[in-house]
Amino acid sequence: MATFDDLQVRRPELARSYLALLDAQPGRPLAMFAARRIGKTHFLDHDLTPAAVQHRLLPVYADLWNHKASPLEAINHALEEALDDLNVPKSRVARLGKTPVKKIGLIGASLDLGDAPARRALPTVPQLRLDALVMRLVDAAERPVLLMLDEVQTLGEAEGGDSAIAALRAVLHKRRDALKSVFTGSSQEGLARMFSTAGAPMYQFAQLLDFPPLGDEYLQLLVDHFGSIHPGKILPLEALRKLYVRIGHKPGLLKDVVKGMSAEGETDVEVGVNQFLATQGTIWNALLQPLDAFDRAVLVVIARGLPPLGRETLEQLGQLGTGPATVAKVRSAIDRLLRINLVSRMANAPIAVDDPLLAEYLRKHQGPG
Ligand SMILES: Nc1ncnc2c1ncn2[C@@H]1O[C@H](COP(=O)(O)OP(=O)(O)OP(=O)(O)O)[C@@H](O)[C@H]1O
Ligand SMILES: [Mg+2]
Repeated sequence: MATFDDLQVRRPELARSYLALLDAQPGRPLAMFAARRIGKTHFLDHDLTPAAVQHRLLPVYADLWNHKASPLEAINHALEEALDDLNVPKSRVARLGKTPVKKIGLIGASLDLGDAPARRALPTVPQLRLDALVMRLVDAAERPVLLMLDEVQTLGEAEGGDSAIAALRAVLHKRRDALKSVFTGSSQEGLARMFSTAGAPMYQFAQLLDFPPLGDEYLQLLVDHFGSIHPGKILPLEALRKLYVRIGHKPGLLKDVVKGMSAEGETDVEVGVNQFLATQGTIWNALLQPLDAFDRAVLVVIARGLPPLGRETLEQLGQLGTGPATVAKVRSAIDRLLRINLVSRMANAPIAVDDPLLAEYLRKHQGPG
């Protein structure tokens, strides 16, 4: 029987519309943005990848977040893996069949002829390697490559990121008939900054798209599944939608709340959220424990929607007994909170606590000090 975790919304039309945009603008990547946990990676995996295959493209996915130190290597590695998949069939039998050794008698001697001589080794310089790999892959697959770079803003944060971006841009331009690309990022500002440091501004280079969150179709799946588990009980769609908006359209988080409600047979969404907050509270407290008092206070300030660098805020923070609160001190606290992903910075919006329910919890349970 299906569980809440099996409920999936597929978005083939959205995927096809992205592919059409790519076709219309050779060499120009799409950069899709959305806050964290909205479903960007899920979409690349489950919607864009199959649509790309149908569209006769070879999809290649690279997660740059997990290879922060060397993002260009991460891209190359993904391309190499794809090339291996094409060249080296998975089973041993098939592999043997692929390297035939032909014996030809030649004036009494016998000569072993294997495959055509191996191609020149790939360049070791990552920038050149990227170009060479793309071309080999396109040759081997006999179709264009769709390069999906997840969390691409990582490129801007890495050491030597500028030259990596320049290399990527150059290859995308040079190979525009053979290489298409889609970027995702959770920081539009980070992306814009990253591309403007590497030459022309981002908006001229990539087409920026706001990635749309899942809509009612997902909420309906939750409601239906809840109904199938608890015959006679109805999870009210309207209240669920309100909560979904309140938590920033994060489907995974909504699902977690609903799972908790289902375990209790609870249909009142407000009660459900409060139960969720109570359970989560223990986990959050453990998460906040290692922070020092000042950083924690800055986090609470952000959760309250106060300007962290405002004069009044600084005065308040100065009364914590952790010494005078200066702009520089608050800035470095924010940097630390950003680094551990407790807060995030979105385009045209003030800095915010990443998890909207944690923000509610902080507002409710933690004083400014
Ligand atoms: N189409 C979908 N159908 C059902 N659930 C989904 C769908 N898309 C996303 N989700 C849920 O939302 C969660 C977060 O999705 P995902 O990891 O793709 O978000 P993200 O935007 O890539 O987040 P991050 O910014 O952390 O990388 C998933 O684990 C899944 O539970
Ligand atoms: Mg992701």
